[in-house]
Amino acid sequence: MGALPWGRRLGLLCVVLLCGTPLCCGRPDPRRREALMQLEMIRGIGGSVVLNDKEKLLDEKLHQLKLQDMALPEFPPSMHFFKAKPLIERSPVFSFLQKMPKGAALHVHDFAMVGVEWLVKNITYRENCYVCFTADNSVRFLFSAGQPKPQTHCSTWILLETLRRKMNSTELDNSFIRNLTLFAEDPDEAYPDQDVVWTRFEQAFLVAYGLVTYAPIFKDYLYEGLRQFYMDNIMYVEIRALLPPTYELDGRRNSKDWSMRACQEVLQRFRAQYPDFVGARVIFTVHRGLNLTEAVKAVEEAVTLQRNFPDIMAGFDFVGREDSGRPLWYFREALELPEERGIHLPYFFHAGETDSEGTDVDQNMMDALLLNTSRIGHGFAMTRHPVVKELARKMDVAVEVCPISNQVLKLVSDLRNHPAAVLMAEGHPMVISSDDPALFEASGLSYDFYQAFMGFGGMRSNLATLKQLVVNSLRYSSLSSALKDKATAALLEKWDKFVSETLLM
Ligand SMILES: *[C@@H]1O[C@H](CO)[C@@H](O)[C@H](O)[C@H]1NC(C)=O
Ligand SMILES: *[C@@H]1O[C@H](CO)[C@@H](O)[C@H](O)[C@H]1NC(C)=O
Ligand SMILES: *[C@@H]1O[C@H](CO)[C@@H](O)[C@H](O)[C@H]1NC(C)=O
Ligand SMILES: *[C@@H]1O[C@H](CO)[C@@H](O)[C@H](O)[C@H]1NC(C)=O
Ligand SMILES: *[C@@H]1O[C@H](CO)[C@@H](O)[C@H](O)[C@H]1NC(C)=O
Ligand SMILES: [Zn+2]
Repeated sequence: MGALPWGRRLGLLCVVLLCGTPLCCGRPDPRRREALMQLEMIRGIGGSVVLNDKEKLLDEKLHQLKLQDMALPEFPPSMHFFKAKPLIERSPVFSFLQKMPKGAALHVHDFAMVGVEWLVKNITYRENCYVCFTADNSVRFLFSAGQPKPQTHCSTWILLETLRRKMNSTELDNSFIRNLTLFAEDPDEAYPDQDVVWTRFEQAFLVAYGLVTYAPIFKDYLYEGLRQFYMDNIMYVEIRALLPPTYELDGRRNSKDWSMRACQEVLQRFRAQYPDFVGARVIFTVHRGLNLTEAVKAVEEAVTLQRNFPDIMAGFDFVGREDSGRPLWYFREALELPEERGIHLPYFFHAGETDSEGTDVDQNMMDALLLNTSRIGHGFAMTRHPVVKELARKMDVAVEVCPISNQVLKLVSDLRNHPAAVLMAEGHPMVISSDDPALFEASGLSYDFYQAFMGFGGMRSNLATLKQLVVNSLRYSSLSSALKDKATAALLEKWDKFVSETLLM
């Protein structure tokens, strides 16, 4: 494994070109075979990364670890993540990936960053927390100074402190945890199709909503989210944020500006505590169920936020299930507005998170490129669209691949069959991210890196692949080029330290 020096590669290339047809003289030429294999290697992600001597040694070590995991009777990437998780946690490859500096997380959602255990064990134990029960087996939370007004489709609000005195707290907490994630003992039975899993996904989101939009908790949540990513060796995060109004104990609501200032304040505090953390930026998102009038308003809000908070505001995107939302083309008049006014509002569209080939929604990736998107969220359908793929490559627009999300939301079951396998082999611009780790009972990026590296990366992906993916995460970020250079230098320094330290172990 490892990369050959360029001179030798060129030599091999000549062998390939000079020999002409693959079957010369009726016998396969071993030198030609070697050259062709090298050509494939060079094309893949990491194929042009030249490893130094230490990295080569570490790569050999990693290769051995990988072989062990590949030989397991139950291969984690081929199983549902809910079943694979305990196996992954025992894997030495996983510990390796946890310790590895991973650069940036570019595709995560605001209220799905923090493990739900913390929400239940810490947040719901704070004062003034009320709960109510819905008819469809779910719960809602609200912080209030006094007895809150009843919410439709929910029981009367009960102060949690009172309820906990009457019930077994452990069992109650466990039921809250179940409400906040998609975890199921038997995921195939619990989620027979995409409709069912998306319904539960949206419901889980509503459960968290009342907790995370309480103003003081909004800040604590963000801080804890950054901390959990930082602990997973991530130095920078771009957060797709809905920026909903936060509320105070007396019911007063705060504006989006309040939320952006809260982000700035939290970041400042966080970086004072962890100076090697580069930062975080916000991609303002709205639901794709909006109509055009509402979308125009949202884009205008995004432009205003960008003007008022240029340091942390990165751009705009739509969220929600692509198959049931409106296609990007429907929103084009809204999305053209900034450019018409001579303002550049960067876009980071979710697109191609679908199985529905040939539908209006399946056009989203092409339309995202026509609208000059900076990256494509998921791009799961990319390999079915050769023209889109070529255009994306020409424009150097990366796909944000989120393996566990794609599996839990039922786009693919065996991660060895993830379409990113093709993109990876072709060296398509790509980053790995985790989308909504809290809902999947994952965290940070390490689980998704494991699935990418072991699952669709196959035996071919190696330390050079990982290094490329990690460097890509900053390269395709929204940071200014000066900050990118600075962050990349810091990342490579961390990387070298990681290589040296891991070699000693
Ligand atoms: C509460 O429930 C847990 C789990 O079912 C059980 O282990 C524990 O003994 C119960 N505690 C009380 C005080 O009943
Ligand atoms: C949500 O919590 C409620 C209240 O404890 C519980 O009755 C319900 O079963 C939970 N729902 C899920 C999906 O676990
Ligand atoms: C809850 O989280 C806060 C940080 O937001 C921390 O200061 C506090 O110690 C935590 N409390 C418990 C009981 O874990
Ligand atoms: C868009 O939605 C808003 C609010 O939901 C509604 O008032 C308006 O009539 C809708 N506009 C169109 C064109 O459907
Ligand atoms: C497209 O986006 C790039 C990068 O965000 C930007 O530099 C460029 O000005 C945009 N071009 C157009 C035509 O919008
Ligand atoms: Zn997403």
